[in-house]
Amino acid sequence: MSKSPEARHLLHSGYFHPVLRKLQTSNVEISPYNLVFPVFVGNNEKPVDVKSMPGVVQYGVSNIEECLRPIVNKGLKLVLLFGVEHGILKDEKGSYADSPRNPVIQVIPKLRRCFPDLIIMCDVCLCAYTNHGHCGIMSSDGVIDNEASIERIAQVALAYAQAGAHIVAPSDMMDGRIGAIKRSLIDYGLGNRVSVLSYAAKFASGFYGPFRDVTKSAPVFSDRKCYQLPPGSKGLATRAVLRDVTEGCDMLMVKPGLAYLDIVKQTKDAHPEYPLFVYQVSGEYAMLYHAAKAGAIDLRGVLEEVLLSMRRAGADCIITYFTPIILDWLQVKSKY
Ligand code: PBG
Ligand code: ZN
Repeated sequence: MSKSPEARHLLHSGYFHPVLRKLQTSNVEISPYNLVFPVFVGNNEKPVDVKSMPGVVQYGVSNIEECLRPIVNKGLKLVLLFGVEHGILKDEKGSYADSPRNPVIQVIPKLRRCFPDLIIMCDVCLCAYTNHGHCGIMSSDGVIDNEASIERIAQVALAYAQAGAHIVAPSDMMDGRIGAIKRSLIDYGLGNRVSVLSYAAKFASGFYGPFRDVTKSAPVFSDRKCYQLPPGSKGLATRAVLRDVTEGCDMLMVKPGLAYLDIVKQTKDAHPEYPLFVYQVSGEYAMLYHAAKAGAIDLRGVLEEVLLSMRRAGADCIITYFTPIILDWLQVKSKY
């Protein structure tokens, strides 16, 4: 009598060869269409290194074309723009967010011209431009004024759309902003030309630290816990996603990524008809970067594993600061 397990208990027979291993994972492929590159853009004459995120560069309106061209040539399909301007006058309502001098507004037409096939996504928020550093407008008693906030956020989204953005992505987490943005896009004749990607399940996370350092967008008082979601909550994440779906968003996002893959899965399971983005945020980037630098992990192997985990959980598209290096890896055709 053979001691080997019954045939149906043999798993190794299904993945003993590299091609078979590929076959077993083929529905979680990473291609350029699954990657979004977040891009910081200011008015700096030369590209500058971002201190809190080694390897990440802040581009300027005048140098972005030459900096992005090699990455576009490697297959880059989507960018997510963030405006960074230091030394500007910040005010109560974040006037600089949609000022004609804002680097995002200035750079969009240029990118459309230089890279006609590239999808331009814009983060829409006020926190980098308000004097209090919050993502909406505050009432006199220090609480978010929701109605004023969504009216203002819709104005900013419209300005980016009118400048030529394909996708506007509000990250402020105010109630009703998707509906307000959609209404103004429709009113201004852009209803069928611009998508709204909702940062729907966005948690109040410590993983945003390095980002806030770059954009100087940390709140001056208090924190964002009254509008970003409590990290322990699954229920509010379900409701936040449903809120934005009901208001008419075109696509959904979960953020951060790695620590919230259960939320990615529950969101995809509940709304498989919506493209789902997951944001591997600045702190996740920094963790992997520094662990690799210290010799604790192999960056390529571990990053691939993390990207696969996000795809497995249900993400269609991953927003990651590692995009240029991943595109490099994809250039070198795999052996199989
Ligand atoms: C602005 C915004 C933040 C991030 C994206 N848009 C910061 C925040 O909400 O505090 C975080 C991105 C990252 O950490 O990489 N609301
Ligand atoms: Zn914000």
